[in-house]
Amino acid sequence: MKLKNTTICMLGAAALAGLLFTVGSLAGSLEPGPETDDGYHEPLVFTHGPAGVMFSHKAHVEDAGLDCDSCHPDIFEQENGAAEANGDVSMATLAEGKYCGACHDGDTAFSTKDPESCVTCHGSSMKKPKTIVFTEPVKAVVFDHKMHAEDMGLECSSCHPKLFRMKLGDAESQPDKFVMEALYQGQYCGACHNGDDAFASDTKCTTCHIGVLGYDRLFSSESGKKEHGEH
Ligand code: HEC
Ligand code: HEC
Ligand code: HEC
Ligand code: HEC
Ligand code: HEC
Ligand code: HEC
Repeated sequence: MKLKNTTICMLGAAALAGLLFTVGSLAGSLEPGPETDDGYHEPLVFTHGPAGVMFSHKAHVEDAGLDCDSCHPDIFEQENGAAEANGDVSMATLAEGKYCGACHDGDTAFSTKDPESCVTCHGSSMKKPKTIVFTEPVKAVVFDHKMHAEDMGLECSSCHPKLFRMKLGDAESQPDKFVMEALYQGQYCGACHNGDDAFASDTKCTTCHIGVLGYDRLFSSESGKKEHGEH
């Protein structure tokens, strides 16, 4: 029942996000797959995280040739949701060699720390949206993943999950906290936009703030590219 409600919520959220951004729908993929002859469901899904993680028995048992006892019962119980119920399945514990991290350490299998691998476990929903436009508390502030992560080569971990959770709308869900004062104190964007690592948050207002006009321009030019061909 719980899973169903979550799924419905996510459907709503995804549909809403889909209006503004082309984010792949997470819904549907969060249900465990059908039960196989070996008694497990294919795939299994970890749902606590920002994007959800698919675990495939088939990929591990058939493709990678692992025996059941390489995971059961030492690393995982044979019970869907048991590990998550412990409350400590996270990137941090994986990096310490627990759970999936027992093998996904860059040695036995691809590392959880490799930025190229995030998508392999978290799925296409882990793909970073290109341009994010914040509209709370004020309209509108632009943030460009491509520019920050690819062009400037910043690691995902320089922002996730300490400064920002990997979930669109998360910072904005607390509009009383996501304010200039917090930036000046070194939180959120202000961790870098402090005049040392990047231009300071109390300068160049309009580089981040594109305003209502900029917002309208951005979205009208995205939906009607062809109509506004000449510049
Ligand atoms: C690479 C690790 C790994 C291997 C190898 C593995 N499993 Fe699992 N198995 C898991 C994980 C992860 C879960 C989910 C545990 C959780 O949610 O806490 C799980 C859960 C299960 C479950 C209960 C969940 C469900 O689908 O209803 C069964 C049954 C199961 N495994 C059977 C097997 C059998 C049989 C084999 C060998 C053919 C096997 N497993 C091999 C990792 C593995
Ligand atoms: C081997 C699979 C695997 C890889 C590779 C992986 N993750 Fe995860 N990740 C998980 C699992 C499992 C969880 C915990 C369960 C869940 O959140 O659904 C998790 C949780 C998270 C969370 C939730 C908060 C936290 O810290 O636990 C974030 C954020 C995250 N991953 C980011 C990343 C990033 C960024 C990368 C690439 C550098 C990455 N993950 C690579 C499996 C993986
Ligand atoms: C007992 C060791 C072991 C554990 C534990 C383990 N894996 Fe793996 N995993 C492997 C190996 C080996 C491969 C195949 C080699 C490779 O891709 O590096 C693999 C491959 C994968 C792949 C790629 C498969 C594909 O479909 O292409 C994913 C995704 C993955 N693991 C996720 C997970 C997640 C999520 C967990 C924890 C819930 C986990 N693994 C736990 C050993 C393990
Ligand atoms: C300079 C900071 C920064 C870096 C570096 C960064 N991100 Fe983000 N990311 C953000 C911000 C800001 C958000 C929006 C968070 C919010 O709305 O609260 C976000 C959101 C996301 C989301 C959520 C999308 C959604 O639809 O919910 C994903 C996925 C994501 N980032 C993936 C990545 C990956 C993968 C990398 C590394 C290749 C990365 N990010 C690097 C700042 C960053
Ligand atoms: C991990 C460090 C880091 C974080 C966090 C960060 N930025 Fe940046 N940002 C940079 C760096 C480095 C530059 C390029 C150097 C410069 O212009 O001073 C930059 C440049 C920019 C630019 C100029 C891009 C252009 O096209 O000229 C904008 C706009 C921007 N950031 C907005 C934001 C916003 C909004 C946030 C918070 C949501 C944020 N940044 C968070 C490091 C960061
Ligand atoms: C590095 C990017 C960045 C720069 C530079 C920046 N802002 Fe902001 N600003 C933000 C973000 C992010 C928010 C919160 C999200 C939103 O309101 O859409 C915000 C919110 C605000 C708010 C509403 C919340 C509050 O603090 O009252 C005001 C007003 C504001 N900025 C004014 C300014 C002014 C004036 C400047 C120039 C002196 C400036 N900002 C420079 C990123 C920036």
